[in-house]
Amino acid sequence: MRGEPLDIRGRRLKRSNESATGFISSIGFDAPIATHVIRINTAHMLSLIRAGEVKKEIGAECLKFLLQAAPETATGQFEDIHQAIEQSAVDRLGVEKAGFLNLGKSRNDQVATAIRIELRERVIHLLTGVNLLQESLLAVVKRDGRTVIPGFTHLQHAQPVTVAHHYIAYFDSIQRDCERFFQLYERANLSPMGAAALAGTSVNVDRRLVASLLGFTGIIENSMDAVSSRDFAVEALSSCEMLMIELSRIAEEIILWSSKEFGFVEVADEYAASSSIMPQKKNPVTAELVRAKCGSVLGSLQAVCAILKGLPYSYNLDLQEVTPHLWEGFANTQKSVEMMDATISTLKFNPQAFSRSMDGDYSTATSLANYLVKSSGLSFREAHSLVGEVVRKSVEEAIPFSQAARELPKLSKRIPPLDDETLQKVLDPAGSLKSIVTAGGANPQFIRGSVERRLRLVHRNRSRLAKLEGGLKLAERSLLRSANSLLEEVRN
Ligand code: ARG
Repeated sequence: MRGEPLDIRGRRLKRSNESATGFISSIGFDAPIATHVIRINTAHMLSLIRAGEVKKEIGAECLKFLLQAAPETATGQFEDIHQAIEQSAVDRLGVEKAGFLNLGKSRNDQVATAIRIELRERVIHLLTGVNLLQESLLAVVKRDGRTVIPGFTHLQHAQPVTVAHHYIAYFDSIQRDCERFFQLYERANLSPMGAAALAGTSVNVDRRLVASLLGFTGIIENSMDAVSSRDFAVEALSSCEMLMIELSRIAEEIILWSSKEFGFVEVADEYAASSSIMPQKKNPVTAELVRAKCGSVLGSLQAVCAILKGLPYSYNLDLQEVTPHLWEGFANTQKSVEMMDATISTLKFNPQAFSRSMDGDYSTATSLANYLVKSSGLSFREAHSLVGEVVRKSVEEAIPFSQAARELPKLSKRIPPLDDETLQKVLDPAGSLKSIVTAGGANPQFIRGSVERRLRLVHRNRSRLAKLEGGLKLAERSLLRSANSLLEEVRN
């Protein structure tokens, strides 16, 4: 039986202006939450039936509709997917039955719930990509980690490090991003359902039952907080932005390092582009776009903050404008993670370019100063000053650092004679790396242990993700089972 054409404007308002409906409608960007809205309706209806708020027979009809409802069934002009789904139920079942779907719930609690459900999936998907990226970083460390490279401060050669040291720095920073996402997942994984419009409801909705049927670990207690809050969106986008900042820095180094001036790395052809006019060009375009997308994600975050600022409690339609920015921020971050992973896994390192660039770069001057402190009893400041003098002499007279350093005993009576072999060892980048003793320093001896510990982290992250994903699948199945067993009850 078809219901009469009754919509949510009821008899309160005359027909809306068509372009006004188009303007206020979110239907154009509700697709990501459509299936969630159907599931929320299912869980809510189950709770209403269990509480005796809706007769079993009527509730069963609604459940049957929801179980086979396709998210895109609704056509026509709607304010949003929530209205569209309810309307298509009314069209199918009649308003006497489908009219119970919205008992004790509002689009306000429903949309907040749906966004949180979608957010969970996006976080899991993103972290799965990040996990692969982290694995690729460690693969680079395993493959090229021992290559000695210049370490920079102020973009000037500072001290030698290794590829491993540089890439583990990337890894660790990204690991903190993972932690942030895991933490925000916990905070966001609470259900607003049962908050209704803002005040809660006189209808007996078992909020905890609905929450658990939807895979949440609990409820957002205060009903106004439940419908008004989008801090989880700010938190998620700032975590995306933090990750993007890290990726943009890695991207920037790939771009710099693949320039002729550096020549340290070469981007694989698959991830480079040429020029329409200059036949020789090989441009590191994926890295460039990752660098740029960091700005776009910041734009999404900024938009959300600006929309939320000064918004009175509780629900305002302004909140609708937040959602597409959230998904866009995630989409940009997701793509960037995947492209960075591909670009990095296929990056070729050029060890000759690294060592050529370190020729005569004085980057072991600090080792020499430290050696003087140990061997002569000079204070560090005195040694620092003397080595500085030797560097200046080497630069001014255009002589090798080691040759200039040989004169050190002449500069201070406290410095014992320096034989060539010792000097060689102190000034050699690899030798200087081996002398590092501090935990977390660039000594190549630490590489193996560092990689092993981080591989364990990667595996731990992966099983945390599997657990979260498993929990969601379980809830999905339990919702289906509950709905089906209710239908079974009614049939008997
Ligand atoms: N389309 C809305 C959104 O995305 C759903 C809630 C609308 N609530 C309302 N009272 N108009 O936020």
